[in-house]
Amino acid sequence: METVTRLENLRIAVEKLREGGATIALVPTMGALHEGHLSLVRAARERADHVIASIFVNPTQFGANEDLAAYPRQLAEDSGMLEGEGVALLWAPPVEEVYPEGFATSITVSGVSEDFCGAARPGHFDGVATVVCKLFNQVAPDIALFGEKDYQQLAVIRRMARDLDLLRPHADDIIGIATMREDDGLAMSSRNRYLGPENRRRAAGLPIAMRAAVSDLESGADVDAVLNALRAALLDIGFDSVDYAALADAGSLEKLTSPPTAPARLLVAARIGGTRLIDNLEVGRSEEAQNELSAARCRLGA
Ligand code: PAF
Repeated sequence: METVTRLENLRIAVEKLREGGATIALVPTMGALHEGHLSLVRAARERADHVIASIFVNPTQFGANEDLAAYPRQLAEDSGMLEGEGVALLWAPPVEEVYPEGFATSITVSGVSEDFCGAARPGHFDGVATVVCKLFNQVAPDIALFGEKDYQQLAVIRRMARDLDLLRPHADDIIGIATMREDDGLAMSSRNRYLGPENRRRAAGLPIAMRAAVSDLESGADVDAVLNALRAALLDIGFDSVDYAALADAGSLEKLTSPPTAPARLLVAARIGGTRLIDNLEVGRSEEAQNELSAARCRLGA
């Protein structure tokens, strides 16, 4: 695996990889890699001839009260993991290569970025959209892969790609990969390392409480009542506060207040012992299953 830190070298390396018409998948990361990231790399390898991973701790997506300096940096360890997974090229630029002196551009994706984590972390998604747009322009991949764990981020990036005609990768080439979970169900995250043993044990109650809420929502229970019960359950488990617990349309992320008739997502952010955890689960049948159902209904004349 080659590692490049300068844009001019990246362009040369990408051109080499492209020889013979080979396809390229991009897996953007901020490092501190875990199995969740590696699952993106594995999925990328199945879909393209070469995988390029990026590691860049993006300062513009950190708020003033968020500790950018404390974000874990472990480039040697991360690059060993990526090499082991067959990544062809690692793009690991320093900050000044991405944000040169005088940098003055920012991308705001309105609507989908505004609620949930966007409300709790002002400016966060502007930073994400800006750096991801730059990564797409720098690498010009055919596809890019992101974890569904950061579901709102995925929705923001898809919206941006569609709106800005980012042909490589087009919104349809932005692939969301299902959240990887620990054995007890907790979504994998680089933040889990900040939980002490007791809070780590309690945090496993988050996906359990969410699954119970999904089951109630799918049975047609009152949305407000389910969300209130979910918030209460999380506080009962030992979470200090719940930033949000919401049901949203899976595509637009518009909040839903009645049982969903189209694919929806249950989204939660909650804090425990100073660590903010997020998770999300699908609610309702998948689009594919819904299509099959309506096709079957049509065949029956129903
Ligand atoms: O999900 C992340 O790790 C980051 O938000 C991303 C997409 C790499 C942009 O910095």
